[in-house]
Amino acid sequence: MPTEKKQLIVNLFEMACVSHITHGLWVLEGNNRHRTAELDYWLELAQVSEDAGFDAIFLADVIGAYDDFRDGPETALREGLQIPNLDPLSVIPAMAAVSRNVGFGATYSTSYEPPFAFARRAATLDHLTNGRFGWNIVTSYLSNAARNFGLAEQIEHDTRYRIADEYLEVLYKLWEGSWDDDAVLNDREHGVYSDPDKVRYINHHGEHFQVAGPHLVAPSRQRTPVLFQATGSAAGIEFAGRHAEVVFTGGRTAADYRANSGKILAAAAQEGRGTQAIKCIVQAGVIVGRTEEEAQRKWDLYRSRTSVDGIMAHGGFAIDPTAYSPDTTVHEILAREGKLDSPLASSTPPGTTAEALLDQLRAGRQERYFVVGTPKVVCDEIERWLDADGVDGINLRQYHSFGTARDFGELVVPELRRRGRIPQGYTAGETLRERIFGAGNSRLPQTHRAARYRLGANLGSLQPSG
Ligand SMILES: Cc1cc2nc3c(=O)[nH]c(=O)nc-3n(C[C@H](O)[C@H](O)[C@H](O)COP(=O)(O)O)c2cc1C
Repeated sequence: MPTEKKQLIVNLFEMACVSHITHGLWVLEGNNRHRTAELDYWLELAQVSEDAGFDAIFLADVIGAYDDFRDGPETALREGLQIPNLDPLSVIPAMAAVSRNVGFGATYSTSYEPPFAFARRAATLDHLTNGRFGWNIVTSYLSNAARNFGLAEQIEHDTRYRIADEYLEVLYKLWEGSWDDDAVLNDREHGVYSDPDKVRYINHHGEHFQVAGPHLVAPSRQRTPVLFQATGSAAGIEFAGRHAEVVFTGGRTAADYRANSGKILAAAAQEGRGTQAIKCIVQAGVIVGRTEEEAQRKWDLYRSRTSVDGIMAHGGFAIDPTAYSPDTTVHEILAREGKLDSPLASSTPPGTTAEALLDQLRAGRQERYFVVGTPKVVCDEIERWLDADGVDGINLRQYHSFGTARDFGELVVPELRRRGRIPQGYTAGETLRERIFGAGNSRLPQTHRAARYRLGANLGSLQPSG
């Protein structure tokens, strides 16, 4: 009996900045990344992405500068490394205006701003995109971000997740509980827009947030945007089990990936959400050419232009190996600078010289989800990720904008369609959640904790407080 082939979710990985994760490549001929502050960049990106048939454009974000490396932001500024960096939520309506199908995921942090305003912004985006919006929940990791929002230093890791838990409860109360589906009457004859009996305060009184409501936006198609998250920590996985619908994970081997995704699925099952509630996605590098030589030429070019300074600034390196003679060992440098407690000490084998470390950075990490080749080679490899590892989808890394997206759309998508791994085209009018979880699934399922607030159940006092 032929069983249905596992389908691939494909997101284009983006960020509203010049250099996101392919350090130094913004200078390549024809690369448009220096144009990310122009409206036309986003209009073109949306069109290229919809032509390619991507499920979503996924926008990363940070709210601070990378200023740990060399004790300041100078390297990040020179490299265009995630600074300047535009607000990802604000570029979505522009892309929505010139597309009908592609979805949009955007990153927003739970650590620094209270939830009420974000509930409104996200609901606005779900309306304007007609149900194509997803949210990447992050608690943020840059120390400079903490200093931008009035804190001397970052909130401790697990505490950030506990705050995020309450943040999400507030959002669910606003998105799912404050307005009933039939609250909007739009009755022009009697001059009644909303039925006040079907809209309510949420009166949330918690440890971190006090929010009265009512929510300022009437229900959108999805109400709660599709919930994305990236994590590997115990606290993060528990959190994903409670909230996330799509999780970014990874692994160096199939067994690694299975162990990581297995923990995430088990966490969801523990919360009574079943074992199918979460899709797991990996970040992937795909370099495709019409011939092996063409693909290899592209990869050689990207490798030769990769900026090691950019990698080190992005990684928040505790030391600058370029400031020492090439044969000094990394451990000697760390000792001299009093930084033997940094993660670099444990991850670097003793005896590794500064030169060897820089060579390793230049060569790139040994990655499982990376392939260079013809459409056949690329699709064979992607099918291995789907079938041998059990990966549900990829976030496609851009080496060249819009070259990477166009190549994937022109060379890889037709072959994946022939192999029955992605749909033949978009289903008109479907929401992002339906695209990921199937027709009829625009809203979160009843098994998700957000559902407990529907029709005003489990809210605080329904009267105005005070
Ligand atoms: C594919 C991917 C994308 C990410 N995007 C962002 C991002 O845009 N902004 C951010 O602050 N963190 C981002 N992160 C980092 C995660 O939010 C999180 O800090 C990290 O996965 C570690 O989580 P943990 O401490 O729970 O293990 C990303 C991680 C991955 C793997």
